Amino acid sequence: MCELRAWLAETAAVPLEEMSSFFAKRLGSYETHMSLWHEAYQKFASFLPADCTEILDLGCGTGLELQSVFARFPTAHVTGIDMSAEMLAALSAKYDNKAVHTICGDYFAVPFGAARFDAVISFQSLHHFTPEKKTALFRRIAETLKPNGVFLNCDYFACCDEEETLLFAECARRRAAANIPDAEFVHFDTPLTVAHESALLRKAGFSEVQPLESVNGAVFQRAEKK
Ligand SMILES: C[S@@+](CC[C@H](N)C(=O)[O-])C[C@H]1O[C@@H](n2cnc3c(N)ncnc32)[C@H](O)[C@@H]1O
Repeated sequence: MCELRAWLAETAAVPLEEMSSFFAKRLGSYETHMSLWHEAYQKFASFLPADCTEILDLGCGTGLELQSVFARFPTAHVTGIDMSAEMLAALSAKYDNKAVHTICGDYFAVPFGAARFDAVISFQSLHHFTPEKKTALFRRIAETLKPNGVFLNCDYFACCDEEETLLFAECARRRAAANIPDAEFVHFDTPLTVAHESALLRKAGFSEVQPLESVNGAVFQRAEKK
């Protein structure tokens, strides 16, 4: 917490950036930056159930997690949603021989459909949103999963309630200072604790909500549809 407080103080005057332009600007160095989680990307598909044919990826970016998904399920149909057209263009170039359908949009707004997917996946995308937004999203994820479907999320979580509260307060302070409305997405990490996020998943109708493993601070969490 001391290091986090020091970093927040050092960066207090750094302006918040809108989410999709944040990623578009950093596309050139993005995959090198994310290579810290190489091992997590490699393991990703091993936590999915057998026979996944229809998969929805929320915040798919350039599709780093899809490498292990296609290694395990070469003929899977993947729908990837991301706000950044630039990230999606890189993904499409990489997987042009695979059944990938990309949607450039906000996963809080794009309709998913009912009972369509064997698995919904996400890697390092959901740690920017309030518990209220996440609860609504988790309900929609439960609805779009087939019976016994799985939501697999690998993400950054707050280590304790104090970190969670501190980051939400700092994000609110920076938004207010720059007059940024709540509805605009900004790139500022506001992770929940694993316990808080697990409670939201249960509230949204998931059973068997389990943190599985942590790789360089990225925690795999799997939730099964009742
Ligand atoms: C850290 S990147 C992770 C990308 C990819 N999953 C990976 O691991 O390489 C986070 C991604 O989430 C996307 N994102 C964030 N909020 C989003 C939203 N509300 N709707 C769609 N995409 C979103 C960003 O554009 C970005 O590409």
